[in-house]
Amino acid sequence: MNKYAFIDTELEGRQSRHQRRRLQTVTPLTEIETMVEDRRMLNFCSNDYLGLSKHPLLRQRAAEYMNRYGTGSTSSRLICGTYDCFEHVEKKIASLKETEQALILNSGFQANVSLMPALADRKTLILSDSLNHNSIVQGALLSHCQIARFRHNDLDHLRKLLKGNRNKGISRILIVIESVFSVDGDQSDIDAVAELSEEFQALLIVDDAHATGVLGKHGMGLTCGKKVDITMGTFGKACGSFGAYIACSEKIRDYLINCCSGFIYTTALPPSVIGSIDAALDVVPKMDKERLDLHLKADFLRSSLHELGCNTGNSTTQIIPVIIGDEKETLALSKWLEEHNILAMAIRPPTVEEGKSRIRLTLSALHTQNHLEQLIDIIRKWCE
Ligand SMILES: Cc1ncc(COP(=O)(O)O)c(C=O)c1O
Repeated sequence: MNKYAFIDTELEGRQSRHQRRRLQTVTPLTEIETMVEDRRMLNFCSNDYLGLSKHPLLRQRAAEYMNRYGTGSTSSRLICGTYDCFEHVEKKIASLKETEQALILNSGFQANVSLMPALADRKTLILSDSLNHNSIVQGALLSHCQIARFRHNDLDHLRKLLKGNRNKGISRILIVIESVFSVDGDQSDIDAVAELSEEFQALLIVDDAHATGVLGKHGMGLTCGKKVDITMGTFGKACGSFGAYIACSEKIRDYLINCCSGFIYTTALPPSVIGSIDAALDVVPKMDKERLDLHLKADFLRSSLHELGCNTGNSTTQIIPVIIGDEKETLALSKWLEEHNILAMAIRPPTVEEGKSRIRLTLSALHTQNHLEQLIDIIRKWCE
């Protein structure tokens, strides 16, 4: 018996299905240009929607916090104590998100995989949108409770599941959705889901990762001012940094500090990261012009793609899928784009369902009209 045989089998299987992932070494040049081998590529797959990852104020504040507090946070915040900079930033998040409190977690993935297990017991029912991100799927599975997926953005289906599970000995219900769906770039109807949550006394959790920085009041996401029990958002996308936040009530924050393993059993984020988040929270609310620009660019790209006959699904945001369907054809388009110095990823099963392969294009406020026209021109040539 060879103890590594399963690894070979899996990797060979992926290879033969053209699904083997590999890391590619790149050198970032600017917020929207990347050096791949010896080629300068225009990047249309980053989540750096506002181009903040290289912003001078974020770098400066990161350095300031590092110099003041050191390179590491040395322990969980429950062991050696919480540095005041975490509390300062959490107050800022809560104020911008219009919630009583906020809690910083180490990443969006870590937040999602530990939040649901903290809230659920064996008799809990989790109702999860069928297009929710993998971190939510994993978090639900780790909760060891009943899970039902409702059809994407289908509130009649959600209501049916809520009704059908009344008086079934369930301890509590968690409804989990994304505000902007990461692969389709469409949005959920948060008010309507919040109403349902209220009616059925379910806890509502919204992943605001792709809206934070881009949509909503001060660009701080789509859950601001909404009846959402828990918002999870990330700082690694439009905020140009790293880490995640939970925005919630005082009671829920207190509960999570006591019960959320992803908060309790991990070393807190490094002070430099907290510094860059702090600066991002100063910069993001002032970027209305850039946000408007980003949405206008997204509208322009979508309508240009439609003119070429491309299917962009229900996208209404800076995330624009070009849905091809067939996997091989999607890979061929991705290769074509690469040959023309465009970096754009093919997203295929198992990330999306069979027949829904696509190129996921993402826009930055720093893409120019010229960049968009370059991209459209290359896709036009592909279509011809
Ligand atoms: C919707 C959604 N939630 C959570 C995550 C995970 O966030 P992070 O990259 O901070 O781990 C991602 C991104 O990868 C995401 O797209």
